[in-house]
Amino acid sequence: MLPRLPDKTPVIVITGAAGRIGSLLRERLSADPELKALFGGSFTLRLTDIIDLGSAGPNEDVRIGNLADEQFVDGLFADQQVQAVIHLAGYPREADWEVLLDANIRPSINIWEAARRTGVDRVLFASSNHATGFYARSQTIGSSVPPRPDSRYGLTKVFSEQLGFLYAYKFGVRSFSMRIGMFLPEPTTRRGLSTWLSYDDTVALVKVGLLADYTSEVVYGVSNNERAFWDNSAAFRLGYRPKDNAERFAHMFPGPDTADEVAEHFQGGVYTSNGLVRSGARLAELEKDPI
Ligand SMILES: NC(=O)c1ccc[n+]([C@@H]2O[C@H](COP(=O)([O-])OP(=O)(O)OC[C@H]3O[C@@H](n4cnc5c(N)ncnc54)[C@H](O)[C@@H]3O)[C@@H](O)[C@H]2O)c1
Repeated sequence: MLPRLPDKTPVIVITGAAGRIGSLLRERLSADPELKALFGGSFTLRLTDIIDLGSAGPNEDVRIGNLADEQFVDGLFADQQVQAVIHLAGYPREADWEVLLDANIRPSINIWEAARRTGVDRVLFASSNHATGFYARSQTIGSSVPPRPDSRYGLTKVFSEQLGFLYAYKFGVRSFSMRIGMFLPEPTTRRGLSTWLSYDDTVALVKVGLLADYTSEVVYGVSNNERAFWDNSAAFRLGYRPKDNAERFAHMFPGPDTADEVAEHFQGGVYTSNGLVRSGARLAELEKDPI
């Protein structure tokens, strides 16, 4: 990716910048030497959230607002200096449709539309493993399998992944969707031994999304875990080299996380069993469809 406007400072927008992942990226990306080199010495991080972000640091531009508001989003792109968006904002777990429409669906539409209109090079999107939660843990899936969302939340992530595909192939806005597992300093459940994404590996994956050459990609946001449910070769092809492995925490989780056999069977864990109208026969159909 090269600066399109050599006379102006290029901008990377981070949405949801006050959140857990956003705060880490704010701290780690602002002085990143590879990004500086890419942008000819300097770039601006345009940080946006609906809640307080504190005051702006040296190469930061802080904007508070609601991404469901189209005019607010258009304002983020109005100077036509935005090269890349790291779209993290959203409601990060299961919720009612009204909540998810305003936090996960409308913001994505507004972001990708503004990106298309202003010639943004790429949008990186914080998708979730709950886009494919209804695969069994015994299966190792790549990122090209059909989605099997385990929740309304997971379905909103599938929507934005597909928005990325449409805008990439139709309008030339590259998209990089990261199906993030468990982003925490360390795994807190046995399931996390499979799904954990460490802080360092998060930064590494986002940098691949910012630097690599692709049109539209879906990858897994997961560390180099021995028990990973996912074949992350799509990310490896683009240069992702995760360093951390959750196995060193395995002694902390000797037994299953729950007594719920549906949650223990499927990759999405309790997201698959919450609100489930139980039928063993119906769930068994998911096993008949080889991947
Ligand atoms: N943390 C994880 O383990 C994990 C796993 C899978 C996916 N994800 C996804 O990654 C993203 C970031 O996760 P996180 O853990 O940092 O979440 P977080 O809740 O800490 O941060 C999300 C931020 O988005 C902001 N936001 C929500 N709705 C908004 C709106 N309408 N306009 C502007 N800002 C809005 C919130 O204020 C919040 O600061 C989320 O989209 C989440 O679904 C996270």
